[in-house]
Amino acid sequence: MLDGRRIVLGVTGGIAAYKAVEVCRRLVDAGAHVSPVLTSGALHFVGETTFSALASEPVQRTLWGEDSPIPHTRLGQGADLVLVCPATARVISDYRTGRSHDLLTATLVATRAPVVLCPAMHTEMWEHAAIQENLSVLASRGVHIVAPDEGRLAGGDVGAGRLADPARIVATVERVLGPGDLVGTTVLVTAGGTREAIDPVRFIGNRSSGKQGFALAAEARDRGASVILVTTTPPPPDLGVETHLVESAAQMHQAVVSRSADADVVVMAAAVADFTPVEVADSKLKKQEGPPRIVLEPTVDILAELGRSKRADQVLVGFAAETHDVAANARDKLVRKNADLLVANDVSAPGVGFEHDTNEVVIHGSEMEQNVPLTDKRLVARAVLDAVVAHRSARST
Ligand code: CTP
Repeated sequence: MLDGRRIVLGVTGGIAAYKAVEVCRRLVDAGAHVSPVLTSGALHFVGETTFSALASEPVQRTLWGEDSPIPHTRLGQGADLVLVCPATARVISDYRTGRSHDLLTATLVATRAPVVLCPAMHTEMWEHAAIQENLSVLASRGVHIVAPDEGRLAGGDVGAGRLADPARIVATVERVLGPGDLVGTTVLVTAGGTREAIDPVRFIGNRSSGKQGFALAAEARDRGASVILVTTTPPPPDLGVETHLVESAAQMHQAVVSRSADADVVVMAAAVADFTPVEVADSKLKKQEGPPRIVLEPTVDILAELGRSKRADQVLVGFAAETHDVAANARDKLVRKNADLLVANDVSAPGVGFEHDTNEVVIHGSEMEQNVPLTDKRLVARAVLDAVVAHRSARST
């Protein structure tokens, strides 16, 4: 799977450094050429000899070795991928700011290869706003982050921050270096909040920013999918996918229906208005005329309509922004709208949902339920598409 691929394995100074030995062994077994780069902190936890014995390339520790005057550029330019395992709070912060003071940080800044970071630290550090912000910035630059597990930590503590399982780390490396698990798949994503006109200047809207939908579109694109985006908000200019800009629920309905036949996966991340004014005033309503009476009528429920007509091979993903009874409402929507997956978030929680760069969700399927703790929307997108891929492969077996 990784035959001949050149991987720089950066190991930093955390208790989880011993697990990097297992990761190194698995990468070598999969056929990769592994060049270990150990920081001085790592050497407090693991020995150079262990990695030298396992890896195909010699261990490197310093910018000032005798073999090469510029080892970081040689490593950075020659790598197919740089994996940092474990990634401490320090290396994450240095990488975010471009501070390159040792061989590993200099290599990270000097490479154009994909980078995979595997954070591991105490729960308090993992949840600290500085760490989460650094990871958000790095994720938005395209860095792949293997979120830590919950479990036993150093000193007998238990919580989030434990290095991800070596199998998951190696699977991520294989995915990043592979052809992409959504190649040949068309993914339709909706994003943003619809606007229902009252008069030429006013509308009924909602707080959706479109960020979660854009993250889903970017993640699907990077995994090889053909992406169709139907959005109420213009996407970032570099998104580079087929985009249909709409405003109202009716326009979104029309755009989705016109393209959904081509889609293998439809992700309804948009916040679609449930009701729209029966009449739109031709000219601006005037205050002197007194408070207007706005009569509303239901919009078409796009997700439910797609759920009624979906092909056997189509995967339909809905979202549910809730403020109470989150799990019960989500499961109800999953069944009622005949979706395959329903991504629920409690938008009353801090840092979750509308207008934030972060989100915290639970992905519900008929036979699965997965918590995605508060993290960058790109990582939420990754978890949602992982669930889509798992759903498709379970269905095909
Ligand atoms: N949705 C849709 N068309 C609508 C309303 C919602 O396709 N007219 C989709 C949303 O994009 C989302 C899912 O349905 O994926 C859930 O939307 P939500 O508004 O939470 O569900 P409702 O059934 O409208 O329930 P309620 O507003 O009462 O919570």
